[in-house]
Amino acid sequence: MFMKTIIEADDGRVIDVLTMGPIGIIPELKRKGYGKALLDYSLEKASEMGFGAVLFEGNIEFYGKSGFTYAREFEIRYHDLAEGDDSSFFLCKELKPGYLDGITGVYRTPQAYYVKDEDVDEFDKDFPVKEKLKLPGQIF
Ligand SMILES: CC(C)(COP(=O)(O)OP(=O)(O)OC[C@H]1O[C@@H](n2cnc3c(N)ncnc32)[C@H](O)[C@@H]1OP(=O)(O)O)[C@@H](O)C(=O)NCCC(=O)NCCS
Repeated sequence: MFMKTIIEADDGRVIDVLTMGPIGIIPELKRKGYGKALLDYSLEKASEMGFGAVLFEGNIEFYGKSGFTYAREFEIRYHDLAEGDDSSFFLCKELKPGYLDGITGVYRTPQAYYVKDEDVDEFDKDFPVKEKLKLPGQIF
């Protein structure tokens, strides 16, 4: 799922960008190239629709293969992250080369991603109970 969001540029401009996620491949089919194929196809579609850049939280080991790099290399900062904090989870890819040239600023996660824990718990009741694990690379 892609969603429109913004970078609040330090010079006062508001820059339209996209964010994306989540993406998931069922465990039996992981590491067969499906995740990358799905990602590359959807990025191509977003590019054809005229969007300039995509930013999100993710693991560089996977997303780096599709041209993402650390957003800090574009001088785009993650909201609510203190200076000096690890921002290696925050990735960026320009769909239009040079789209972020001359822009520094703060990326905002769209409001639609903020959900109440109690609403999530309620929704989860529709599924068989699973143990909550914390795996490497998992942010939440
Ligand atoms: C992340 C995910 C979508 C990747 O899908 P996938 O189909 O397994 O990935 P691909 O086979 O297309 O991988 C392409 C390349 O990315 C890299 N890569 C993929 N998964 C990786 C991992 N777990 N660790 C390190 N590198 C990885 C590899 O270089 C891989 O190429 P290779 O297999 O030839 O080495 C899948 O592992 C998944 O569904 N994970 C759980 C949900 C999740 O964490 N989603 C991402 C955050 S929203």
